[in-house]
Amino acid sequence: METTLIILKPDAVQRGLMGRIISRFVEKGLQIVGAKFMQITQKIAEKHYADHVGKPFYESLVRFMTSSPVLVLAIRGVGAIAICRKMMGATFGSNAEPGTIRGDFGVSNSFNLIHGSDSPEAAQKELGIFFADGEIIDHDRSIEPWVYDMTGGEPE
Ligand code: RTP
Ligand code: MG
Repeated sequence: METTLIILKPDAVQRGLMGRIISRFVEKGLQIVGAKFMQITQKIAEKHYADHVGKPFYESLVRFMTSSPVLVLAIRGVGAIAICRKMMGATFGSNAEPGTIRGDFGVSNSFNLIHGSDSPEAAQKELGIFFADGEIIDHDRSIEPWVYDMTGGEPE
């Protein structure tokens, strides 16, 4: 099982899309194991986007992410990182495929609704930035045997 860090960005919150986006992940079969509604501080944004320092969009990205509250999620499943990235779609709504979150809900070349970790290393780092010990809650789902084939002992 993999856990990934998802952020519903200020535009998703302001546009009332939190519920619809969460539904997509849950209906897919992924499990929410952490959730936090918060205003991202300058310091947290700088930590989270450290890899983008110096890029032309960095300043406006940090301004956007700190401008209004976000919903931070920890989402778990087999291959959750790649699955969530696929569900998010290409970076900007203008060219994201229909059927993806960005493709269905956005048109902007700047505001793009959602962040998702892009590798296991990034997920580990980003989950550590947003969730303290005990805030990611392992728990059994009663639907688990209907989400994955468990007959071989491992989720398939
Ligand atoms: P994210 O990190 O938010 O999941 O998105 P991503 O992997 O698809 O995009 P990435 O290249 O990591 O860029 C991070 C965020 O910076 C903004 N951005 N603006 N104006 C631009 O050319 C530009 N490029 C990137 C976007 O908000 C993007 O999500
Ligand atoms: Mg990225």
